[in-house]
Amino acid sequence: MRVAVIGGTGLVGRHTVDALRAAGHDPVAVSRRSGVDVTTGKGLDEALDGVEAVVDVANTGLTDRSAAERFFAAETENVLAAEQRAGVGHHVLLSIVGIDDVEGNAHYAGKRIQQAMVSDGAIPWTIVASTQFYDFPAMVAGWTRDGDRSIVPPLLMRPIAVVDVAAVLAEVAVGKPLGRLIEIAGPDTHDLVDMARRTLAAQGDPVRLVASWRDSPLGVEMAGEVLLPGDDARIGSTTFEEWLEGRTG
Ligand SMILES: NC(=O)c1ccc[n+]([C@@H]2O[C@H](COP(=O)([O-])OP(=O)(O)OC[C@H]3O[C@@H](n4cnc5c(N)ncnc54)[C@H](OP(=O)(O)O)[C@@H]3O)[C@@H](O)[C@H]2O)c1
Repeated sequence: MRVAVIGGTGLVGRHTVDALRAAGHDPVAVSRRSGVDVTTGKGLDEALDGVEAVVDVANTGLTDRSAAERFFAAETENVLAAEQRAGVGHHVLLSIVGIDDVEGNAHYAGKRIQQAMVSDGAIPWTIVASTQFYDFPAMVAGWTRDGDRSIVPPLLMRPIAVVDVAAVLAEVAVGKPLGRLIEIAGPDTHDLVDMARRTLAAQGDPVRLVASWRDSPLGVEMAGEVLLPGDDARIGSTTFEEWLEGRTG
């Protein structure tokens, strides 16, 4: 099956393209690098020619709330409209577990708009909501890095390996649209500070981590069990320890 991966050159996108190809499908990686801008729609009609399913894993680093909302709204509107013109039969969106309970996060606000547009749209759909990826803790430490010190909030989560996310996206994309959201998560619950410390130590980075919500880029509304998946979540098999070994060994 020909499957377009919007954001197919990114972190999840690359692995999704690989998983589709390994399963004998015909993936098309769609991004600005391939001449398509999803915020304007430029090049989308050509990219979706002959495509039966679309996986949307496009991303933006915008941290301003209205800018993030505008990006995801424009992107989703353009992709869904192009899918309708191309006769695409399944739109798969990658979203994030727990975003409905976190009002103050700009990225999550954009993802909520995306989810609403997909579930209210005309293209049959499945939303795959994932927990945080294993590189998320080191990324958060990078955002607040000040010399040899970083502030990382003591956030509880059940993170997952990107390869496991990609495997589910590839499998879901070639199946029947479910018309509902499914959750995916990793095998264990972790604390963000512990994961950041272990990831950076494995990289030989002597950074000092301050476990605090104060001055953290993540709001305290994410504390507790907010970002943990429900009991029905599909569980990826790769552990954090296996991921860490694979990165450093
Ligand atoms: N990080 C996490 O812990 C986590 C957890 C759950 C879900 N997610 C979701 O996972 C998704 C993918 O994240 P990621 O880390 O794989 O992102 P990423 O590595 O930043 O990749 C983003 C992709 O989007 C493409 N893109 C960006 N702007 C574009 C535009 N205007 N037109 C066309 N393509 C564009 C990029 O390619 P070009 O630059 O070439 O255009 C790239 O292929 C996000 O939607 C995020 O919400 C992330």
